[in-house]
Amino acid sequence: MDVPPKTGDTRALPGHVAIIMDGNGRWATKRSLPRIAGHKRGINSVRKITRHAKARGVKHLTLFAFSTENWLRPKEEVHGLFDLFRYYMRRECRTLAREGVRIRFIGDSSEMPDDIQSMMVEAEDMTAAGDTMTLIVALNYGSRAEIVTATQRLAAKVAAGEMAAEAIDDTMISAELNTSDFPDPDLIIRTSGEQRLSNFLLWQAAYSEFLFVDRHWPDFDEQSFDECLELYCQRDRRFGGLRKSG
Ligand code: FPP
Repeated sequence: MDVPPKTGDTRALPGHVAIIMDGNGRWATKRSLPRIAGHKRGINSVRKITRHAKARGVKHLTLFAFSTENWLRPKEEVHGLFDLFRYYMRRECRTLAREGVRIRFIGDSSEMPDDIQSMMVEAEDMTAAGDTMTLIVALNYGSRAEIVTATQRLAAKVAAGEMAAEAIDDTMISAELNTSDFPDPDLIIRTSGEQRLSNFLLWQAAYSEFLFVDRHWPDFDEQSFDECLELYCQRDRRFGGLRKSG
């Protein structure tokens, strides 16, 4: 597969790729393994794709690791996911820092176990100088909750007389979201064949390109990622305007 040449001109490549890592459970069930084995293999894909996205010049990579709805899963699975997250953070943070990857988190961390909250703060501190790529991990993230909180903050400012309701515009709303420091995703990939957003980056996805890939997340590898980049490069992004040609 031909990936656009690395000429330093990365205009055609997505600067921000966001991924809904779906299909860990099905990957495991297909092999008669417990679901957690699929999540464990999913961590390998996280490591591989993070490294590969950086090598391809992606500047922001967002991974949907745990949604506000994932609390509905059996306790053992939720605890298993948290244990894997601990394992990942212990193993990876130092390496990411060395490789110049900055870690940031979006979502409501206050509901996470205390030790994980500490790990999140440490990881953000340890990697703060990273300037090759930012890895944004969505943990206990839900887009509607994020928009509700942003709306409440703006409403409070209006109620306090700090600004008029009519002054609220899309820039102000973006600035109140968890993602205020990052550009909107250019490309959103969902693995495992499902074609929905599942409460992920609803506001930020206004002009994103979408790719739904049939592979389960543990099988999503460097080649799968390159295929997505190639498909993305063939898209004609018009942002509501007209075609560039034809
Ligand atoms: C979806 O598969 C996957 C998740 C809910 C969790 C994703 C988490 C990881 C890959 C590990 C932790 C991540 C980081 C960044 C350390 P599913 O269980 O919904 O699969 P299914 O639809 O086949 O049941």
